[in-house]
Amino acid sequence: MKTLIVGGAGYIGSHVVREFLDRGHGVTVFDNLSSGKRENLFPEAEFIHGDILDYTGLSRAASGRRGGFDAVVHLAAFKAVGESMVNPEKYSVNNINGTINILNAAVEGNIKNIIFSSSAAVFGQPEYLPIDEAHPTNPESYYGFTKLEIERFLGWYDKLKGIRFAALRYFNAAGYDVKGRIKGLESNPANLIPVIMEAACGMRETVQIFGNDYDTPDGTGVRDYVHVSDLAIAHAAALEYTSKNDKSITVNLGSESGISVLEIVEAARRITGKPIPARIVGRRAGDPAKLTAASKKAHELLHWTANNSDLDTLIKTSWDVYQKPRR
Ligand code: UD1
Repeated sequence: MKTLIVGGAGYIGSHVVREFLDRGHGVTVFDNLSSGKRENLFPEAEFIHGDILDYTGLSRAASGRRGGFDAVVHLAAFKAVGESMVNPEKYSVNNINGTINILNAAVEGNIKNIIFSSSAAVFGQPEYLPIDEAHPTNPESYYGFTKLEIERFLGWYDKLKGIRFAALRYFNAAGYDVKGRIKGLESNPANLIPVIMEAACGMRETVQIFGNDYDTPDGTGVRDYVHVSDLAIAHAAALEYTSKNDKSITVNLGSESGISVLEIVEAARRITGKPIPARIVGRRAGDPAKLTAASKKAHELLHWTANNSDLDTLIKTSWDVYQKPRR
């Protein structure tokens, strides 16, 4: 299939591009390189340096220089939860307006499928665990709100314009390509595993552990970490699903197991052999104690399981990239 991957130079996007190329899909990457990296691009994929806020450029790209696209994969968004609470304008413009541009460009380009990076942040504080797709959506952050609103736009464009979508609600994306082909580091990461990796290789002094008084076995926050290579596979399976069945889906993507902050720090110390200084600080606002996914729907509809999402693979594949010498 011919695919336009918007945000394909980013951390998750580049893994999706690699998976699509491996499966023989045609790939055009559209990215403004604001957080994506040139080193994440692959020569087999066409690259268009463009911005989703530039509708003219985007619609030209979506209409395809060499015939149309079968699908657009949309991974272009800001994703810092804390920042979204102090600068919601930035998230409104990029995440919401940018997506509306993508949807309208898809209509113009007659693209019939869209695979969208949604997030477990749409759920907010859990009412029960594990979180399945029927769990109420009540985002705690503006970031999560933008993701939920976009899901609703997708629903309308499905109804009114026949664009089938897959909304993939990632839990905590982590790790790097299991075959070591992607090496771009995220700049100024706020997520736990990259922060730990930066401490392991001396890019920062300590890891702050946000609270050890949660109602969890060791008192630190528990999350469902899902390997990016698994997420990439899910995107390919989702495209197969929407295109074959002419049907939209919303699914949770998680490993279905919970790992605590301390367990990750300890595993990282063991695997890297580095001391990784860590210090307990206060809780971070809005952080739930525990989040885990029920991914039954993804198993059933996409025949997908998070096979690479065990703790050691998450850390080892990250460390392989972080310990490489940089220019
Ligand atoms: C959040 C979103 C998730 C989103 C992701 C994108 C929620 C509930 N989850 O995940 O949907 O896709 O951001 O960025 O909004 N921690 C530390 N020290 C650190 C960093 C994190 O102790 O320096 C702890 C956190 O308190 C948490 C865990 O590590 O318990 C994971 O945090 P993080 O990696 O930031 O992801 P989430 O906030 O869970």
